[in-house]
Amino acid sequence: MNDKQRVAEHAAQKIENGMLVGLGTGSTANYFIEALARRHQQESLQIQVVASSVVSTIKAQQLGLPLRSMEHITELDVYVDGADEVAPDSTLLKGRGSDLVREKLLAKAAKAFWVLIDPSKKVERIGQHFPIAIEAMPFAWQLVQRSLADIGGDAKLRHTGDGLFVTSYGSLVLDTVFDPATDVEQLNGRLNAIPGIVEHGIFAGLATAVFCGENGRIEERQ
Ligand code: 5RP
Repeated sequence: MNDKQRVAEHAAQKIENGMLVGLGTGSTANYFIEALARRHQQESLQIQVVASSVVSTIKAQQLGLPLRSMEHITELDVYVDGADEVAPDSTLLKGRGSDLVREKLLAKAAKAFWVLIDPSKKVERIGQHFPIAIEAMPFAWQLVQRSLADIGGDAKLRHTGDGLFVTSYGSLVLDTVFDPATDVEQLNGRLNAIPGIVEHGIFAGLATAVFCGENGRIEERQ
């Protein structure tokens, strides 16, 4: 069992009967879905789930988890997902995948948001290893790119193979690098205020617990 599997198993053990559980997207989230489905089958754990992506929906469906659709919920008990980077104050960077919009909606609607990581995800500052993924409305990407340049961002359209990368929400992605000295809290506010940005990868003030699997042990930061 690797660190991602172990931390996913640990989180699945904390799920209780009656909970509505949000499923994240990515390899760690996949391990969590598998662990949760095992408990559902073997221990008759009574839960419902809501998924943050088509991939997680299909996985949950194949494993027999009772699914609810996002349209029909107003809150959930816990949202469980991975992250690309986690800063010391538990601000996250997400969005290397294509499901940022649903991920942030579920993280915000949840009473608790558990983030599952291995040590490679810990950083001193957001943007240390990856650019910030910024989803832009397709017709607005150049205007958004200009607005990002105005606040010091070097934004490049994300490509895939021969074409442009399109998120599950239908947005284009501007992978954007800012000066390392940029204040992330201020940046979060500025990105929230730019017209044409659908969503971006900074998840500030949303995580309620970070579980880190390292060499067989689980470190828990509340
Ligand atoms: C997808 C995400 C993922 O949670 C993040 O990329 C981590 O993925 P993994 O668990 O595969 O390392 O934010 O948008």
